[in-house]
Amino acid sequence: MSKQITLTIDRRQVTVPEGTLVADAAKMAGIDIPVFCHHPKLEPVGMCRMCLVEIGRPVRDRATGQFVMENGAPKIQFMPKLETACTNKVEEGMVVLTQSEKAAEGQKGTIEFLLTSHPLDCPVCDKGGECPLQNLTMAHGPGKSRFIFDEKMRLDKMVPLGELIWLDRERCIQCARCIRFQDEIAGDSVIGFDDRGRRTQIVSFSEPGFDSVFSGNTTDICPVGALTTTDFRFGARPWELEAHASICTQCPVGCNTTLNTRREAKAGGKIVVKRVMPRQNEEVNEIWICDKGRFAYHYTEGKKRLTRPLARKDGKLLRVSWEAATKLAAENFLKAKKNFVILASGRLSNEDLFNLKSLADHSEGRAYLYSHIGGGELTSLVGVGEGTNFAKMGAGTTIVVIASNLYEEAPIWHLRVKQAAERGATLIVMNPRGTKLDRYASFVVRYAYGDEVKSVQELGKKGRIGDAFLKSENAVILYGSEGLGISGSAAVASACAKLLNDNGFVGKPNNGLIGVWGRANDQGAWEMGFEVEEDLAKVLKGKAVYIVGADPAADDPKLAKALEGAEFVAAQDVMETATTEIADVVLPAQAFTEREGTLTSGERRAQRFYPAVPVTGDAKPDFAITSQIARHMGVILEGTSVSAVFDILAASVKSFEGLNYAKLAEVKPQWPIVGRGDLYYGGTTYENTQGMGAQLSAAAARGEKVSIPRVQREAPPRPKENELLAVPVTKLYDRGTTVLPAELLHERIGDASLILHPDAAKSLGVEAGQAVNVSFNGVSGGAVVKLDDTIPVGVALIPRSMGLAIREPVPLKVK
Ligand code: SF4
Ligand code: SF4
Ligand code: FES
Repeated sequence: MSKQITLTIDRRQVTVPEGTLVADAAKMAGIDIPVFCHHPKLEPVGMCRMCLVEIGRPVRDRATGQFVMENGAPKIQFMPKLETACTNKVEEGMVVLTQSEKAAEGQKGTIEFLLTSHPLDCPVCDKGGECPLQNLTMAHGPGKSRFIFDEKMRLDKMVPLGELIWLDRERCIQCARCIRFQDEIAGDSVIGFDDRGRRTQIVSFSEPGFDSVFSGNTTDICPVGALTTTDFRFGARPWELEAHASICTQCPVGCNTTLNTRREAKAGGKIVVKRVMPRQNEEVNEIWICDKGRFAYHYTEGKKRLTRPLARKDGKLLRVSWEAATKLAAENFLKAKKNFVILASGRLSNEDLFNLKSLADHSEGRAYLYSHIGGGELTSLVGVGEGTNFAKMGAGTTIVVIASNLYEEAPIWHLRVKQAAERGATLIVMNPRGTKLDRYASFVVRYAYGDEVKSVQELGKKGRIGDAFLKSENAVILYGSEGLGISGSAAVASACAKLLNDNGFVGKPNNGLIGVWGRANDQGAWEMGFEVEEDLAKVLKGKAVYIVGADPAADDPKLAKALEGAEFVAAQDVMETATTEIADVVLPAQAFTEREGTLTSGERRAQRFYPAVPVTGDAKPDFAITSQIARHMGVILEGTSVSAVFDILAASVKSFEGLNYAKLAEVKPQWPIVGRGDLYYGGTTYENTQGMGAQLSAAAARGEKVSIPRVQREAPPRPKENELLAVPVTKLYDRGTTVLPAELLHERIGDASLILHPDAAKSLGVEAGQAVNVSFNGVSGGAVVKLDDTIPVGVALIPRSMGLAIREPVPLKVK
């Protein structure tokens, strides 16, 4: 435990850890010192002078170092001038006066000065109602200004910093919170101050503008309405909004969010989501979310939402009743017997997946997870368990990231791993090409695509990197699917699991294996025993298929063909997709914004999400649709109460044992303090009052015997002389069902691309930005050339879900 310091703030004795800033010590004691530039997650800068207080320190005898006493107490000497509470650290015996006449006068002066060049357009400002400047002006301002209104600055009010974030130059108080967030937290230094004096302004110096996947967070911590998001700008007043707890469904991090809703004239009087805000969970996402999580939710409002059940008659999909649709599906599944196949994705909740798996188990069917990554049975076995928290990792912990670009695949893990490395954790980044995490790594290992398993095994051997790994107290490995298909990633998972298990890095907090999955709840599916299949086309062909929350027909023409050759297809989804277009029965599912459920994050944390908006059309929650189909098949599954499904799940799946909805809704005090009454301090992030979730137990932690199967890694194919090795990589903004309908993200999604080393491009005679035709594995299509000088020369990267179907490394020709 760090040394504790006792001081007095406004006549109250406060004890806090050594090194705490006076502003934070006051906050911990429930005393609000007004701040603008200070943010508890950022390094102090003392730029705005809002936090002026009187500080007195005990006088020490120079000879003895002891306090000089006066009237039986240490003699306190106050500095002649006010000091900033956000830059001074606490000292033993310190006395702080935050509300004395002198301090109040200083604070009043700062507000008066800030308002000299502020437009005071609160009545039309997006931040009005949740604005620290507005609130602190009311609490500490002079009430009257000595400056002449006509001499106020007139500046641009609609400056796009990028396509997602807008700057109102008049409102900016130059606190640099946004710049410091980008520099210190995000590690993307893409905005900064330009010019001097009163002309100082925020500018973006990246191309494209504000090129960071964390840009939206700056609007939460900007203490005025200077930074706003494109979709919320002039969209609503904060006091009109309802807040509903949710979980981001875009990646395996499971960021806690708040959906702000309002009844909307433009939506015909319907209640709609107006914005997605972070909800504090210091063990998951702290107070941040990425831009995909903030903006992609617009897909739920897409024009292609499914609203009614449909069944094919004479080649056309026609509206039918729920009873008729589910009965038709059930009859065909029963008729198929062993040829009944369920294909579900990790977009679904735990309850949905549990009912689907139960249906397969109680019939003759098989349940497959629609995923491009294998090895999940090992994360259930030796995955991280209770007590794991990146925020607690530092010196003594080794974090290995292999075959994954966390910035693109799980952005908030990128932030948290970066911070752990900055606190002293040993970070080993293993990837054939450069990633943004390399900058923070103690060791960067470049291997050739195909050598993943060998590289993992090297970590268990003596040597500079092996020693660093083996001598750690704790070790976590995050493995992904960069350049790998299902069998390749399963082999990597097996090598990682063996390495962790053999060296005692399992069954305790901050140890174990994490899969960087493609979807939010892949981990939940693995816990329930779903399997994956490399050759899905073979599995689907000629079968009666129940596809839930997945669009294989859009992802891969071979899968579309296999589905066309299937005996029967029932497709259940939120949106119309290429798969629903060829289905015999279409079952409309509710979006996550319309229903309740739980998701299991990659860190094996089960978390609750809650309904925020009314149901679209006749859509039903997935678990209830499955239950209705099951009933027609003679299988009874819970279909009414989602919490009852969870209880049955917790009683059947060991890792969920002991969990229930009430437990997942538990919260505990968190630091920093955020929330509506404290937004001057931590930003507009929402306080977590609806649940921080709970981590599942891992088999290793339960004392079960762990045996790791050795999976042989097949060598990738060797390209011929005029070919390149095409490998799949994951891109944050792709053309998936839950991203593409969000028009705001279209510029970031872009076109299908082919990423080449500049030398490879040169020898092919192509250049950056050029459209080319590629063919591989029976697929051909167009792509735009991009260059990356960190990738091997003989390799071409193809981002997944961008229109070119790639499941594993294959030889490729460029035409
Ligand atoms: S834009 Fe906001 S956060 Fe950035 S410097 Fe201006 S006031 Fe501060
Ligand atoms: S990091 Fe992942 S879970 Fe978090 S907001 Fe982004 S996409 Fe969503
Ligand atoms: S100087 Fe302390 S909050 Fe800005």
